[in-house]
Amino acid sequence: MSGTVACQSAKCPNGNPPSKLECPTCHKLGIQGSFFCGQECFKADWKMHKRVHDIVAPRQPLLDDPSISKSGDGTFNPFYDHRFSGSLRPVYPLSPTRIVPEHIKRPDYAESGVPTSESRRAGQPPRILTPEEQEKMRVVCKLAREVLDIAASHVRPGITTDEIDAIVHEATIERNAYPSPLNYRNFPKSVCTSVNEAICHGIPDQRKLQEGDIVNIDVTLYYDGFHGDLNETYPVGRIDDDSKKLIRTARESLDQAIKLCKPGFLFRDLGKTIEPIARANGCSVVRTYTGHGINDLFHCAPNVPHYAKNKAIGTMKPGMTFTIEPMINLGSHWEAMHWPDSWTATTVDGKKSAQFEETLLITETGVEVLTAGKPRELF
Ligand code: MF3
Ligand code: CO
Ligand code: CO
Repeated sequence: MSGTVACQSAKCPNGNPPSKLECPTCHKLGIQGSFFCGQECFKADWKMHKRVHDIVAPRQPLLDDPSISKSGDGTFNPFYDHRFSGSLRPVYPLSPTRIVPEHIKRPDYAESGVPTSESRRAGQPPRILTPEEQEKMRVVCKLAREVLDIAASHVRPGITTDEIDAIVHEATIERNAYPSPLNYRNFPKSVCTSVNEAICHGIPDQRKLQEGDIVNIDVTLYYDGFHGDLNETYPVGRIDDDSKKLIRTARESLDQAIKLCKPGFLFRDLGKTIEPIARANGCSVVRTYTGHGINDLFHCAPNVPHYAKNKAIGTMKPGMTFTIEPMINLGSHWEAMHWPDSWTATTVDGKKSAQFEETLLITETGVEVLTAGKPRELF
């Protein structure tokens, strides 16, 4: 039977002839049909091929696994063969999925992981909210601000990002709201926590925050049919001057962008203000991720890029709600790369990244910052 299977390499230089060399791991796992015409072909295809092993048998930590932390606490790095850009590492296992009580109203993706209503409305122009809907946005955004501030008050060396997730989750359900990140496109946790070189979408895990880290906490709540989304970046204990400059620059670029918002302003012109502030401070603006419309949908039109010379569509109109959330990297590399968890976005050079986000409402005369907190000094 083995002789009848064609070489499985997508790039087989020999025209995928009938092959006899079977992948030993597949054989052990009971995956049938993994034959290659020779060692060369097997080796060349290895990077692609080995993914099938993890699908069938998600990697378990072995006793001599180099990923196992020396702390002896059973934690491990699930991606030890990944080329990390900096020194941040995932610390697994993730805690079990947190439960949302039955009585709390859920968004459409809560069970399936698929935001069907977002896809249905793709390509539609930004919604203009009725006064009643605007009031609901005010309510959810105020709740989201409360939850972020509670989470922030716990930031200190030694706390794990998973403990921050637990705090966000509890504070959210206490307010009869749903933590919007939970199961959004299968995101496994209730908040995003992005440390140091993580740009955004970090998954809370067992890593303890360390003195000198910076951590972004990105909270989104769903309440009475609407989402409110905000984030801030915090120092962990004492941080170096570059980290302070980075955090100040990210905050300043968001504040200046918010000042521009009013009816008639072009979304594409926000980046003209944000990028020069970043550059003047030796920083760069992430292009891969943008601000977004937000209302009964978590993410929708308009698209709100933060970099200069973008081609974003549309002008601000009274009744529109959207976020501005610039991600600013130290140094000149704005590019993002991703961990194999397919969520965590990091800088490519391992330098730190910071972000601030607010949800905004365009009014007849200007802008209302729905997620606004009490004015505070950063450092
Ligand atoms: N809160 C993020 C934003 O600002 C989105 C997080 S999506 C998640 O748009 F799935 F990672 F939670
Ligand atoms: Co957010
Ligand atoms: Co957002």
